[in-house]
Amino acid sequence: MESVTLKDTAKETKKDTLIEIKNLKKYFEVERDLIQKLSSRTKRYVKAVDGVTFDIKRGEVFGLVGESGSGKTTTGRLIINIISPTEGSVLFDGVDLTKLSKRELKHFRRRMQVIFQDPYASLNPRMKIGKTLMQPLEIHKIGTPREREEKALELLGKVGLTPPEIIFTKYPHQLSGGQRQRVVIARALILNPDFVLADEPVAMADVSMRVLLLELMMDMKKEFNLTYLFITHDLATAKYVCDRVAIMYLGKIMELGPLRDVFQNPLHYYTKALLAAIPIPDPDHKRKVDIPKGEIPNPIDPPAGCRFHPRCPYKMDICEKVEPQLQMIEEGHYVACHMY
Ligand SMILES: Nc1ncnc2c1ncn2[C@@H]1O[C@H](COP(=O)(O)OP(=O)(O)OP(=O)(O)O)[C@@H](O)[C@H]1O
Ligand SMILES: [Mg+2]
Repeated sequence: MESVTLKDTAKETKKDTLIEIKNLKKYFEVERDLIQKLSSRTKRYVKAVDGVTFDIKRGEVFGLVGESGSGKTTTGRLIINIISPTEGSVLFDGVDLTKLSKRELKHFRRRMQVIFQDPYASLNPRMKIGKTLMQPLEIHKIGTPREREEKALELLGKVGLTPPEIIFTKYPHQLSGGQRQRVVIARALILNPDFVLADEPVAMADVSMRVLLLELMMDMKKEFNLTYLFITHDLATAKYVCDRVAIMYLGKIMELGPLRDVFQNPLHYYTKALLAAIPIPDPDHKRKVDIPKGEIPNPIDPPAGCRFHPRCPYKMDICEKVEPQLQMIEEGHYVACHMY
């Protein structure tokens, strides 16, 4: 019965597309104090995600890059349906997740897993590693206790935590930060997902550990046929792993395209500035692009027109009034800027 219902809710999806998001918006209501409430001022909203459209192809690593507060995590949480959108839709394998029953959603949740930034916060400190890995299998009633144990040990080996039998009996605090993040990666993979949301997965690791963890994630991608949404504030990390990237600013996509095109031929000034901010180990290297001055404006009252205009040196009159739409400039390479 379940599969019939799911099929009915499925829309036409291109075969190579796993996730399609359309005009996605998430507005969070701003808490008001009593005086503000009594003075009956209208409700105010943080426009964390404000009309985002893109798709993620099967088997790709799609990077979402932007400064702090640009709405990356909120977009990720909307995609895996932890929070529901104010407007817009998310299709996973052609199915609109917001229209599913709890039982149907549980089936889909298995197919999408998350790796967060802080491995310590995402592991239960009182639970041994073995139990942590077997728990998702128990919840979904998969395998016998013996089979669950075997699966957990096998995955520990795959993510490079050896000897697995010893790690199995440890608590999170008995492991290093890098080892803990390997446990988080193993736990994300134990249910054989199709899609992994990796939200700043290596931001807490030191530089040498970062490369090892990224390599592990890419090995696992091949082994398990995964699709990743890779969230990072750091273009250098994105460059290492992503097939395509979207540059986000104040709840909007400013530029989107294949990694190579965005890096070799950045179109938006904001992208150019982010690229220029990547440290280059050459003291004589002169920056061609200055990093935009000033803070990211407040997402409660984003600037009219192009949200980036207060920080843009090429600002024209139109930029203050009309919001630029994403348009394709070369094959698969989009930008939202009035200069084009
Ligand atoms: N639950 C919430 N309630 C109210 N505001 C929120 C909530 N979650 C996020 N926001 C706000 O939405 C905006 C976008 O936040 P988000 O966490 O998506 O940004 P981000 O790009 O992931 O930033 P960072 O790089 O710091 O993780 C921010 O202004 C944030 O304060
Ligand atoms: Mg975030």
